[in-house]
Amino acid sequence: MLFDTHCHVNDEAYEKDREAMLARAFSEGVQYMMCPGTDIKTSAEAVAMSHQYKQIYAAVGIHPEDAASATSEGFEQIRKWIQTESKVVAIGEVGLDYHWPEPSHEIQQQVFIEQVKMAVELDVPIDIHDREAHGDTVDILRQYGKGIRGVFHCYSGSLEMTEELLDMGFYFGFTGTTVFPNSKKLKKIAAALPMERILIETDCPYLTPPPYRGKRNEPAYVQYVAAEIAKLRQMDVAEVQRITVENGKRIFGIPEDV
Ligand code: NI
Repeated sequence: MLFDTHCHVNDEAYEKDREAMLARAFSEGVQYMMCPGTDIKTSAEAVAMSHQYKQIYAAVGIHPEDAASATSEGFEQIRKWIQTESKVVAIGEVGLDYHWPEPSHEIQQQVFIEQVKMAVELDVPIDIHDREAHGDTVDILRQYGKGIRGVFHCYSGSLEMTEELLDMGFYFGFTGTTVFPNSKKLKKIAAALPMERILIETDCPYLTPPPYRGKRNEPAYVQYVAAEIAKLRQMDVAEVQRITVENGKRIFGIPEDV
C-alpha cells in the first residue's frame, strides 16, 4: 500500500486521461493521495476530486507563485473549506519560492504569513513549498507558527535546517528527485532521518523519477521513491510503504476506516 502525499492529480496535464491515470495508481497500490491546491481554482478542483474518489484527500491554499492572486475573499474561502470539508486535511501548498523574480518576496511573505497564522488558528497541518528560500521560510514559521505542524514537501534543505525542522516536529516529503543519481545530499538526509518523519510523494506531473525521467509523472510512480528510500536505508520496501502510509495518515489526521 502507498500514500502519495503530494500529487497534482487535478492538473490539466491529465485532462485527456485522468481516469486511466488514477486507475493505474490504484492498481499499483496507491490507496491514499493528497492533492494540494495552488490557488482558489485548483483548490476547488482538489476539493471536488476528494468528493469523487475515496482515495483522494485535499489541501487548499495559495502557492507562492500565485501569491499575487490572493484576496481576502480567497482566504475566507480557504477557511470555509477547512471548517466544512472533512477531506480537506491541510493548508497547502504554501510557502516561498525565490527561484523566479516575481511575485516579489514581500508579497510571497505576506501571503505565506497569512496562511501560517490560519493553520495555527484552525489547528490544521500545513504543506510547505520552500524553494531557494530556506532562511525566510524557517524565520516565518518561528515567528508566526507557534505550535504549527506539517510537511516540507519536496524537501531540499541543508543538514542544519533539517535538525531544526525535526525539533519543530515537521515531516519531510521526498519526491523523484531523491532517485536521481546526483542527489547526494538528499539521499544522505533520506537515509539519516527518523523513519517516522518520512513521506513519499510524486509532486506529479513534475519531477518524474527514473525509469520514467523526462516523461509526465503520475502517482503510480511513487513506488520508485519508496524503493529508493528502502535502498538507502537498507530496509524492506514493503516496510517503507507501510510506515510512510502510517506517517501520512498521522500528520494529515486521516482515520483508519476509509
Ligand atoms: Ni506541488
